[in-house]
Amino acid sequence: MNNSLQNKKILITAGPTREYIDPVRFISNESSGKMGYAIAEALHKLGAEVYLISGPVTITTTFPKDKIIAIQTAKEMYLACKSLFGEIDIAIFCAAVADYTPKEVSEIKIKKIEDETTLVLKKNVDIALEFGKIKTEQQKSIGFALETNNILENAKAKLDKKNFDLIVVNSPNKNEGFGYDTNKISILTKNLALTEYALKNKHEVALDIVKVVEDII
Ligand code: C5P
Repeated sequence: MNNSLQNKKILITAGPTREYIDPVRFISNESSGKMGYAIAEALHKLGAEVYLISGPVTITTTFPKDKIIAIQTAKEMYLACKSLFGEIDIAIFCAAVADYTPKEVSEIKIKKIEDETTLVLKKNVDIALEFGKIKTEQQKSIGFALETNNILENAKAKLDKKNFDLIVVNSPNKNEGFGYDTNKISILTKNLALTEYALKNKHEVALDIVKVVEDII
């Protein structure tokens, strides 16, 4: 085996995060982790040293389980990533990180006493944005964008803001994105080259993404 990704240190975030309200309740999203895990599996097979930082998922994977860094909250995902930021060559931010988290977490189960209640949320740290601020010339980062409207403009804005080298764009249509086994992506590079791909199985999509990553390192 000899390829440009062999022995490269690659961080991948995958799956959803859980933002706890009390010990048994949380806010989350429908991310299955399938896309991130498929990329991790493909890169692992190519001999890369993959750090898979994963939110709670139920997935069957060929990726070595002892190499998965399991987290629950966005804050935990950030801290796990931060400890690796200095040593990685590539970061692939595939996780659907919750944008907001409850300002206060109750230590006990909240009782249903009032007819109405308010949950105050505060912004989570943007992991990709933080890496984008400190990454070196040699380090590369890849982001994902799930867009429903103004797809390209929004993806371009995200690419710039988070200092990504590439952004993988998908839409929440049937058979694409969250939860499905298939995905239909476009990849936008820093110099605004856009490549559109056909609807494919997420393992095939992972190979397309890996090929593009090979081109930028
Ligand atoms: O801004 P938006 O959430 O759409 O950006 C998506 C990209 O940023 C994805 O690559 C996602 O993994 C990453 N992200 C992150 N930390 C957050 C929010 C998003 O790394 N708190």
